[in-house]
Amino acid sequence: MIMEDIYRLEEADKKLPVLDEFIESLSVKQDEVIAVLHKAQQLFGYLPAELQLYIARKLDVPASHIYGVVSFYSYFTQEKRGTYTINICMGTACFVKGADKVLNEFARQLGIKSGETTEDGAFTLTDVRCIGACGLAPVVLVNEKVYGHIQPEDVSRIIDTYKEKKGE
Ligand code: FES
Repeated sequence: MIMEDIYRLEEADKKLPVLDEFIESLSVKQDEVIAVLHKAQQLFGYLPAELQLYIARKLDVPASHIYGVVSFYSYFTQEKRGTYTINICMGTACFVKGADKVLNEFARQLGIKSGETTEDGAFTLTDVRCIGACGLAPVVLVNEKVYGHIQPEDVSRIIDTYKEKKGE
């Protein structure tokens, strides 16, 4: 893969300078792999191979290390996602309080399985490991917003909220 591939990504010419500036602001770049990946995912929405390679070169770390971090944390994704990513926590505390029923209800109403994106590009559904908010179990995270104590009957309200936002 050649470096120029990175410019095939949507708005790469605008987003890469922002990422470069963030990387330049770090003192010990190699220690900040996770922070850089967070920033990159925030900008591009996902971390495709060409972006991982770009970051590896910028930080001067092996591409295999970047790939290892991206695959280890369920928060990071290599696939393009919808405008809103609905993450259902399937950690133990959430699972025992019925997270699987909540996941099934989202899947039913959106007509997709976990890991898939709706055809209109609005929603991606995923299941994640504990996000550290067990006191609020079962927990649903839509992009950065946390919803606690969610039951299957709350699902349509959440979906409608984001459908309305998308239509604004
Ligand atoms: S198990 Fe769901 S937030 Fe911890």
